[in-house]
Amino acid sequence: MPVDLLLNNGTIVTPRGEFRAAIAVDEGKIVAIGSASAMPRAEKVLDLNGLHVLPGFVDAHVHMREPGMTYKEDFLSGTSAAAAGGVTTVFEMPNTLPLVTNEKVLLEKASLLKDKAYVDFCLYGLIIENNIQELAGMAKAGAIGFKLLLAEVTGGVPRPSNGLIFESFKELAKIGLPVSVHAEDKNITQYYTEKLKATTKEPIAHCLARPPIAEEEGIHLLALFAAQAGNKVHLVHTSCGTHLIKAAKATGAKITAETCPQYLVFSEEDMQVKGSVLKINPPVRNKALVQRLIEAVNDGTIDTIGSDHAPHSVEEKTKESIWEASSGCIGVETMVPVMLTLVNRGLIKFSRLVELGAENPARIFGLYPKKGVIMVGSDADFTVVDMKREKIIKAEELHSKQKITPFDGFQVQGVPVYTILRGEIVAERGEVLDGPKGRFVRP
Ligand code: DOR
Ligand code: ZN
Repeated sequence: MPVDLLLNNGTIVTPRGEFRAAIAVDEGKIVAIGSASAMPRAEKVLDLNGLHVLPGFVDAHVHMREPGMTYKEDFLSGTSAAAAGGVTTVFEMPNTLPLVTNEKVLLEKASLLKDKAYVDFCLYGLIIENNIQELAGMAKAGAIGFKLLLAEVTGGVPRPSNGLIFESFKELAKIGLPVSVHAEDKNITQYYTEKLKATTKEPIAHCLARPPIAEEEGIHLLALFAAQAGNKVHLVHTSCGTHLIKAAKATGAKITAETCPQYLVFSEEDMQVKGSVLKINPPVRNKALVQRLIEAVNDGTIDTIGSDHAPHSVEEKTKESIWEASSGCIGVETMVPVMLTLVNRGLIKFSRLVELGAENPARIFGLYPKKGVIMVGSDADFTVVDMKREKIIKAEELHSKQKITPFDGFQVQGVPVYTILRGEIVAERGEVLDGPKGRFVRP
């Protein structure tokens, strides 16, 4: 009996290096890796000469807005964007409406989304002031982890008290699932926001209102709590404070950190040009901090890359006053090409990108080795890329419902050619093929 699919002549990229080999896939799993002559016969053969084969990207940070805010995005459009962009698994954030704060809401969300997913998906539960007793139930229902916010974001989630946060960390140490935290602390951002609002509406004021110390204060607190409680804390969209993360890791605290492409390619100077389109929380930082962040990506302080895909309508994003505009930008479709471009520019090693974009998120969240790796027995999820191909990102070509993005006009070198999900091609050269074929995945 022939196997379903054979990937021939590609160069496989792993965290340990690159090598040329063929990959045989059957019933959604990788069944053999080796020289082409040693492979079984296959129903379908893809010749990947000149292309690189990466494990499918795992984006542990997206806001697809369904249910509750589907004018911004919905699961069909958001996961189409993921597929087109070379992402095979997304972790959906819980600041949808109703907020995902208990088992019932989580199960309802899973059942609502399961037929609308072009890629595999996982769901976060949310930690709020009064739901410690719900965390175990959400874990049982299949939550990939939890989200905690020290700042206020879309959906209007209040910041829980420090006592509650510490108690929930102790509970999470027992449950074993990680908590992804938005570390910017509201105390400082509120103070400066109020102060600056009185005098300016300029885009740069958004950065001044949320200075690095706000994020550093949060990281500091979380490191202390995590070290004592012994739970796993994943810092999302890290933009600064990497020295504190490094120090926390050295104490043995179970801390990991994500950053996003937007913090690696844009700086405060871009606020003048892009204005509120680039309004994100935390804000983009100055060039010296961007440089430090790139170093932290390379030295292992930063563990993962996520998109923080956070769509808003054009109207919400383009207000005259920076204070009125919504925070967040789309990114699930542009993450892989932008990161490949950084590899081509020599800023990040190709093998390191595979670790950041696939292996580490899968390991941190308990999906490894089903996801995140090219290994016999793993899901046959691949992001096949052309490192030579150049392209200019055009907002109007993206698959998201709301296409406004700071990456419009950004020149990339390196683009996904095939997105393969459990052995099926779900997107080819930016075109999404029939589906949706994604599934709800538990840790
Ligand atoms: O800018 C942001 N927007 N940062 C977040 O952390 C949340 C997000 C959103 O949901 O809009
Ligand atoms: Zn987010």
